[in-house]
Amino acid sequence: MKVTVVGAGNVGATCAQVIAQKNIVQEVVLLDIKEGIAEGKSLDLWQTAPINYYDSRVIGTTNDFSKTAGSEVVVITSGVPRKPGMSRDDLISINAGIVKSVTENAVKFSPDAKIVIVSNPLDVMTYTAFVSSHLPREKVMGMAGILDTARYRAFLAEALDVSPRDIQALLLGGHGDTMVPLPRYTTVSGIPVTELIDPDSLDAIVKRTINGGGELVNLMGTSAWYAPGSAAAQMVEAIVLDQKRIFPCCVRLEGEYGLENIFLGVPVKIGKNGIEQVIEVDLNEEELMLLNNSANAVKKIMEILDGMHIL
Ligand code: 2OP
Repeated sequence: MKVTVVGAGNVGATCAQVIAQKNIVQEVVLLDIKEGIAEGKSLDLWQTAPINYYDSRVIGTTNDFSKTAGSEVVVITSGVPRKPGMSRDDLISINAGIVKSVTENAVKFSPDAKIVIVSNPLDVMTYTAFVSSHLPREKVMGMAGILDTARYRAFLAEALDVSPRDIQALLLGGHGDTMVPLPRYTTVSGIPVTELIDPDSLDAIVKRTINGGGELVNLMGTSAWYAPGSAAAQMVEAIVLDQKRIFPCCVRLEGEYGLENIFLGVPVKIGKNGIEQVIEVDLNEEELMLLNNSANAVKKIMEILDGMHIL
């Protein structure tokens, strides 16, 4: 089985590394437009195999999509990352053109692939890939909810001094300032989180989660890669091993949550067919209001992109 990661920047290379170390596919292809970079990083990665004990071959190519032919999953990380002061939405015009052309090339050589989008602005780039691929919605998904809940879970683990593994959480909405972490659906090994933490501390963690990407951009001058790359690799694992895992992911909504033709993070089941189920959870009035607010924010950017006539 083969998996392709497009974009050998920090996120793409980390994703390829995590997939390889999971030892779940025969081949990981890393593709980049910059001459030699994917070949170099792949060679470096492959040389970790004897140290880290995995068999997955890591192969690099400069923009030769024929090398990606027959991939089960294609992860798209291409595009420019955020600089301090930029929102994810500022990236729209540059990244939409890139994601469109990468998606078209990827689908040409892997017509049965599931596409995982990581490029920002995430929800609108998932829309871009959906339109450019002509694939059903089950096969085109965006990685954001795993990353955002991971940040939320990590902050909670720190505050509660417990293992991050024991924190289960749900988060809805777009990957941006309007995302909706759901304390009502957050537990520590089944115990509602509200029984373990005071409301002000929980509220501060929710706010820090919403600004989780921005906090890292401010620290590093560019956006994050370890957690985004690992989160995308977890989606790949769920697909190639047909794990039927439940994650919040960006998907095209077709009536769920009262929303149509909008790309938004909601809980889904992921297996060998891609998105095998979109799960609708019960929301109270405030949560629904926040979700609609997030949907409106994404819709606005989708409309700006439509106006650019790139797709
Ligand atoms: C983040 O939140 C890169 O959008 C990504 O870090």
